[in-house]
Amino acid sequence: MIMERREFLRGAAAGSMALLTPYGVQRMEARVEVLLDEPIGTISPDLYGHFAEHLGGVIYDGIWVGENSKIPNTGGIRTALIDHMRRIKPSVVRWPGGCFADSYDWHDGVGPRSARPRRTNFWIDDPSMPQIDGPHKYDPNHFGTNEFMRFCRLTGAQPYLAANLRSLPAKDFYGWVEYCNAPAGQTTLSDLRAAGGEREPFNVRFWGIGNESWGCGGNFTADEYAVEFRRFTAWVPRYGVNLALVGAGPNGGDLEWTRRFFNKLVEKGQGQLGNLYGWALHHYSWNVSRGQTTDWVKGKGDALNFDLEEWYELLREADRMENLIAAHWAVMGEVDRTHRVKLIVDEWGSWHRPGTEAHPTHLLGQTSTLRDALIAALTLDTFNRHADKVVMGNVAQLINCLHSLFVAHEDKFIVTPNFHVFEMYAAHQGATAVRTLFSAPRVSHTRLGKPASFWGLEGSASLRGKQLVLTVVNPHASEARETEIVVRGARVGSCQARVLSATDIHAHNSFTNPRALEPREQMVSVSGGLFVYQFLPASVTRLQLTLT
Ligand code: AHR
Repeated sequence: MIMERREFLRGAAAGSMALLTPYGVQRMEARVEVLLDEPIGTISPDLYGHFAEHLGGVIYDGIWVGENSKIPNTGGIRTALIDHMRRIKPSVVRWPGGCFADSYDWHDGVGPRSARPRRTNFWIDDPSMPQIDGPHKYDPNHFGTNEFMRFCRLTGAQPYLAANLRSLPAKDFYGWVEYCNAPAGQTTLSDLRAAGGEREPFNVRFWGIGNESWGCGGNFTADEYAVEFRRFTAWVPRYGVNLALVGAGPNGGDLEWTRRFFNKLVEKGQGQLGNLYGWALHHYSWNVSRGQTTDWVKGKGDALNFDLEEWYELLREADRMENLIAAHWAVMGEVDRTHRVKLIVDEWGSWHRPGTEAHPTHLLGQTSTLRDALIAALTLDTFNRHADKVVMGNVAQLINCLHSLFVAHEDKFIVTPNFHVFEMYAAHQGATAVRTLFSAPRVSHTRLGKPASFWGLEGSASLRGKQLVLTVVNPHASEARETEIVVRGARVGSCQARVLSATDIHAHNSFTNPRALEPREQMVSVSGGLFVYQFLPASVTRLQLTLT
């Protein structure tokens, strides 16, 4: 709800605000103040990136249905997915893993499809792996480098390839770079690419040097990994591409992994930092035990059946991103004083316990609710607020896995609430993040029978010319937030709202009810520089303001 402003009065009581309306003085409980003259940095479109791993139903069933499928496809790739991806301007997609990447031999996925080898998938022994055999266990390699590049081209995304550091020599990494980027007709590998119908080089810029090298990616110490990183990156053929090499960063709050890696890396001189474009943090929101356990299995909750405490607990888990970014950035700065290396968060999202996947073969598949949508929104807002530090984000994962934007099985395809958030937030891409102050009473709730609280409103704002985009999360499960919006340095000419919310915090889409949760547009008429907006309970809101 928006009311035209007549006069603004600051409330006498500390922190309260009041608005003189035609109906009398109205107390404002919250305020958002956009400071146009305090730019943070350009919001890299790559912050709105994705991740697709050969895991469960992501590639086979999700992306790749095959050229001879009855499911509408574009050269084997699910057409509905391509169409929906275009709507969110995907920017960048990371592939082929994840943990899978460090067991993947890219040679297996090139050349004639019918001649490609079948291989055991990295995830075959996961405890949730169903009895059913299929490509989730034995990869047919029908989706390889050329298919992935075509997927990127069709969706308008850039490729981000994760190289195998654990189980292949560095030479194979150079070979993959050559296969992708060498001019046609110049090397045997570029000829192989051309023979597969891709004469023009792919010009892949983003390369991950391993994945989670502290765990599935080799079980290294940070010192050992730094040595491996130096070895892998000491020589990489460029072919005129400004390569961006990404280091396998920490697991959540493991600051020692960051500290030790950076110190070891520069043992051969500060120049070594020049080979490192980004440092990739992973952070999943999974532990809803309220501090009772750190057990990876026991700490998880159900994706659909959660109570109010778990609602706030998972939001709190996701909100750790703010401190993780600040903390790792500070540690990186101990060595990299000019901050030439940026942060990348190439895996993030909710991770619930198994049981809500659309099909048993969709390992780590889960149903995303409104709660996950709020997590997507508050995470993207966090990235925007740190646009000077974070240059790429990749939600895990694109389809049929974890914090998916899409769920598909055979000919069925739906978007999740997370998709809607990405579509709403795409308006921030490439704009300038500007500092924005949110003041709202904290949400009070109980945590294991004791009083607890969570922030009342958070979000981010960005400016492009006269267009201001303000995105806001109201985490309160049942209370709307009447909020005064102030834009310092301009007057608001018009405002349009788009809101994702539901009365049931468990709201989600399904194959039987695919449009249960969708955002709604709200035309808002404003005149004057200030206005009041009511943020619905449990909501994600995008306000698009035209400034005069
Ligand atoms: O996204 C699922 C898995 O989570 C990835 O393969 C791995 O990198 C992380 O542990």
